[in-house]
Amino acid sequence: MTKLSRIKQVIVRALQCVTLGTALLGGAAYAADAPKDLVLNGDAKCTACHDESDSPGVLAIGKTKHGTRADGRTPSCTSCHGDSAAHIGYKGSAKPPAPDRTFGKKSKNTAAEKNVACTTCHQNDSKRHLWVGSAHEAADVSCTSCHEVHAAHDKVRDKRTQPEVCYACHKEQRAQFNKQSHHPTPEGKVSCSDCHNAHGSAGPKLMKRDSVVETCYTCHMEKRGPFVHNHRPVTDDCSNCHQPHGATADNLLKARPPMVCYQCHSGHGTPGVAGIAPAATTIGKANTYIEQARGCLNCHTEIHGSNNPNGGQNLLPPAFFLR
Ligand code: HEC
Ligand code: HEC
Ligand code: HEC
Ligand code: HEC
Ligand code: HEC
Ligand code: HEC
Ligand code: HEC
Ligand code: HEC
Ligand code: HEC
Ligand code: HEC
Repeated sequence: MTKLSRIKQVIVRALQCVTLGTALLGGAAYAADAPKDLVLNGDAKCTACHDESDSPGVLAIGKTKHGTRADGRTPSCTSCHGDSAAHIGYKGSAKPPAPDRTFGKKSKNTAAEKNVACTTCHQNDSKRHLWVGSAHEAADVSCTSCHEVHAAHDKVRDKRTQPEVCYACHKEQRAQFNKQSHHPTPEGKVSCSDCHNAHGSAGPKLMKRDSVVETCYTCHMEKRGPFVHNHRPVTDDCSNCHQPHGATADNLLKARPPMVCYQCHSGHGTPGVAGIAPAATTIGKANTYIEQARGCLNCHTEIHGSNNPNGGQNLLPPAFFLR
């Protein structure tokens, strides 16, 4: 706190005494002279000291939805920071005792204590009812590890700036999105929150929908089918073959074919690799194509499912049979 603002505080206190005196003498005068709320309902008891000149940026909360004063559900300073009687009432030139609840790096409050400030109002909506017990809640991540409530621009809710907030703790994912094949997240077109619900989920890995496939189908509907012939790993979990964030192989594949297929199959007759591909095919030279170009996909192009009535159970395209 600057010397100037200390002096200002003394003046504020003096004025408070004067107004209090006036209030005792005549109620009418009090209303006119009482410090006014600046940005939130009932903030005067705090903004008497914490105004723009004292705490730059603090009043920007008035520009957020929390600052919609006509909306009776919005918070006051004390809804989040607590009544903080000792803090407001401190005397002298020493540093005041901390408010009941603080959120910064030096805060002595636990994550649970911080989160109560938010969950009292934000617990039961459809997007956050699974917060308790979620990976983030269980790891003591607090709402304010991601959200900046005093800033007019909350970085985590903007597609372009959101990844930076997450990468602060998830460095490995930054490296994945830097690989040559990646979802256009660094480009600001797909955000982490298009696939994840940071507040909790019934699915694995904080998926936005109840499963990985349902989440992917929200944008890649054509992969849902229905197909006459399904490929089971596709209907089970797209990440059997894809690394959803980014990969070195094209098409976000965990490895290029045939390697990605060898997780579960052998090539046609590949010695020493157990699997379910037949040793020989009607195409005698299948093996000579496997290691070339698109590998298994030279022939099995309908990898996500096939509607081919003619032998389509092999995920082969119709054209294959016209040769
Ligand atoms: C009488 C003046 C005064 C009043 C009234 C006042 N504060 Fe403070 N506040 C201070 C001073 C002085 C500091 C210390 C600033 C510093 O350390 O740089 C401070 C610091 C803070 C901090 C930072 C604490 C930390 O440890 O990071 C918060 C948060 C805060 N006040 C919130 C509030 C809230 C909420 C209210 C109203 C309930 C309030 N203040 C009312 C003077 C006041
Ligand atoms: C919705 C909850 C919430 C409300 C309402 C709120 N604060 Fe805060 N306050 C926070 C959080 C969280 C932080 C930690 C920094 C951040 O996220 O911006 C904080 C930080 C602060 C700080 C420390 C700033 C710093 O840079 O060290 C002060 C001072 C403060 N608040 C005062 C106030 C005052 C005054 C009001 C009322 C005008 C208020 N707060 C309303 C949640 C809130
Ligand atoms: C006293 C109740 C109350 C408290 C406490 C509260 N909020 Fe809110 N919050 C609201 C209301 C009301 C809205 C506006 C909702 C709407 O418009 O649908 C809101 C909106 C928001 C939004 C969306 C803003 C936007 O622009 O759409 C975020 C993010 C948010 N709150 C986070 C928090 C966090 C984090 C905390 C705790 C530090 C918190 N809130 C504490 C009542 C509260
Ligand atoms: C790991 C980061 C993270 C944490 C922790 C987090 N949030 Fe969020 N929050 C987000 C993201 C990302 C969005 C934007 C979601 C979107 O665009 O669908 C968001 C959006 C919101 C919104 C407004 C938009 C909406 O979804 O309706 C509110 C309100 C909110 N969060 C409250 C909270 C509360 C309360 C907590 C703590 C219980 C919390 N958040 C914890 C990342 C987080
Ligand atoms: C296209 C959807 C999608 C997007 C976008 C996405 N993720 Fe994921 N993420 C997934 C899927 C699916 C998994 C689980 C499968 C896996 O781990 O390979 C996952 C797993 C994770 C995990 C857990 C990893 C582990 O090994 O347990 C973290 C952390 C994560 N994502 C963070 C992020 C962050 C941060 C962003 C944004 C920068 C992001 N994700 C964007 C789909 C996505
Ligand atoms: C303050 C640090 C922090 C921030 C910021 C953060 N996370 Fe996390 N996240 C964690 C911790 C800790 C875990 C649990 C331990 C782990 O799996 O690494 C976790 C776990 C996850 C998981 C795996 C869940 C599971 O079931 O295994 C996903 C997905 C995830 N975070 C996504 C995100 C996204 C998306 C964002 C940004 C919107 C984000 N996180 C921001 C700390 C953070
Ligand atoms: C929010 C929409 C969205 C969701 C959800 C989504 N994707 Fe995507 N996906 C995209 C966009 C946009 C592209 C880029 C398309 C382009 O560049 O033409 C893309 C591209 C891809 C690609 C091709 C990458 C390349 O290198 O060409 C694959 C593979 C993919 N997504 C798989 C998945 C998987 C698996 C999931 C679920 C974990 C998923 N997507 C979820 C929007 C989404
Ligand atoms: C058995 C492995 C495998 C599984 C599981 C899988 N894919 Fe793919 N996917 C591939 C291969 C191989 C390619 C490259 C296709 C090519 O080069 O023609 C690909 C390409 C893609 C592409 C980009 C090209 C295109 O066809 O649009 C998208 C998008 C895609 N997959 C989405 C998904 C989704 C969504 C799921 C889950 C529902 C999924 N994949 C599951 C193997 C798989
Ligand atoms: C995670 C395991 C897994 C991976 C990876 C995988 N498959 Fe499969 N595949 C299966 C299973 C299980 C079946 C048989 C069950 C079914 O789909 O009906 C199968 C069946 C097939 C069939 C025969 C379809 C039929 O109906 O007989 C072909 C062709 C095939 N896979 C090709 C591929 C190719 C090419 C790749 C690599 C791009 C691949 N698979 C990757 C598990 C996998
Ligand atoms: C030159 C084309 C070609 C290539 C390359 C190829 N296949 Fe095949 N594959 C076929 C044909 C044709 C069939 C149908 C069975 C037959 O006619 O013998 C088949 C059948 C299959 C089947 C189904 C077996 C069954 O019981 O019906 C699997 C699984 C399979 N291939 C996996 C693979 C995998 C994995 C690779 C890559 C390592 C691969 N194929 C590469 C042409 C090919």
